[in-house]
Amino acid sequence: MIFLLFWALAPAAEPSLSYYKDVEPLLQRHCQQCHREGEAAPMPLVTYKQVRPWARAVKEAVLSRRMPPWHADPAVGHYSNARVMTAAEIAIVRQWVDTGAKEGDARQAPPPRRFADGWQISKPDLVLEMPEEAEVALSGQMEYVHYIVPTNFKEDRWVSEMEVRPGNRAVVHHIGVYLRPKGSQWMSEGKPGEGFQRKSRISGRTPMDELFAQYVTGGQAQILPDGMARLIPAGSDLIFQLHYQPNGKPAKDRSRIGLVFAKTPPVERVHTIGVAEARFVIPPRDPAYEVRALWRIHKPVRLFNVTPHIHLRGKSFECSAALPDQSAVTPLVRVPHWDRNWQITYEFADPLKLPAGTRIHCLAVFDNSANNPVNPNPDVEVRWGDQTTDEMMVAYMDLAFPAEWPLLNLYRREPLPVQ
Ligand code: HEC
Repeated sequence: MIFLLFWALAPAAEPSLSYYKDVEPLLQRHCQQCHREGEAAPMPLVTYKQVRPWARAVKEAVLSRRMPPWHADPAVGHYSNARVMTAAEIAIVRQWVDTGAKEGDARQAPPPRRFADGWQISKPDLVLEMPEEAEVALSGQMEYVHYIVPTNFKEDRWVSEMEVRPGNRAVVHHIGVYLRPKGSQWMSEGKPGEGFQRKSRISGRTPMDELFAQYVTGGQAQILPDGMARLIPAGSDLIFQLHYQPNGKPAKDRSRIGLVFAKTPPVERVHTIGVAEARFVIPPRDPAYEVRALWRIHKPVRLFNVTPHIHLRGKSFECSAALPDQSAVTPLVRVPHWDRNWQITYEFADPLKLPAGTRIHCLAVFDNSANNPVNPNPDVEVRWGDQTTDEMMVAYMDLAFPAEWPLLNLYRREPLPVQ
């Protein structure tokens, strides 16, 4: 009798699942773009042999939604590049691990997922490369290294596809390639041919000095739709900004950018703006210091994406767009738990039309308390700066507008309303 009762109350044993049939397709879809040989993730998750020792960690990472990395609040915005597993997919991983992470029958395996080895863009018309191999430290945090790469363009060039390719993916955390038009005084402390650390991120910078292309782990090349292109004015330099992450082994890196020129004159120009606020002082030990940026767009544009950027004390970040007549406020992105390891670009599934006069508002919250496990020093005031121990507050956004429009006066910082 007691026996029967016990049997009735015990949960039905879950059937065990198979790696090949149930789990491998999910890893192909959600993990292998980063977890394969030669990519940035610490271990490949391709064969059963590779995955089995990590089974518990895999379960834990997907249940906590730490993996795949994606930090936008799902209630805000729809993104074409969202890396999100469904509840049903997560349940499969959990059940597979809880029932012994069985291998199953190899004949049920999906065909292996193939990844393009070379350029993701069409064959580049021009490849520009760092002038030398950079030495990467063995360990510790490295400050950003910059290299000036002159384009030597004699005339303006329109670029429709661009891809930044790290020389050594194991140590490259991210790369920003900036465009510096002729005559700009920005980063004039650097000399072509050698790596340098810039003195100031803003001094001498104009709206024409733009973030032109980036590489981040798991990121995508930029292939612009027909009729759209980015402009590289004659005589511009590209400046590579490299953030290396030492991994304990001696390493060098020489990264490059591939460009495909537009075949026909573009109808629309794509340009990256930085909605930033650089004048802030985060007090020591403040657990939730708010910094706001408010910018107004002065011409009608289309908005494609948003890439929030803050450093170690970052806690959360959000942006919204307010239409000029105040009729509506559209949330653009909300990152409730900032993770300094990830620089994610959130690509809107439908580009947003912003009429002239739209105001873009961003709010970053910083945790300078001792409770922030990555805070390098809670006892100091923190200001804007390049070093990892400084802070930043910027949201990069790609806009498109008629190709003949000048950049000047396209958008401007607004005084914040008194609170
Ligand atoms: C966009 C690239 C990317 C994708 C997609 C990705 N990972 Fe990762 N993963 C990383 C990187 C980089 C690390 C090491 C740094 C870190 O932990 O953030 C990592 C670390 C891990 C770790 C080990 C350490 C930890 O934090 O637990 C596990 C386990 C893991 N990933 C599992 C997965 C699984 C399972 C998937 C798919 C469901 C996945 N990852 C998708 C890049 C990725």
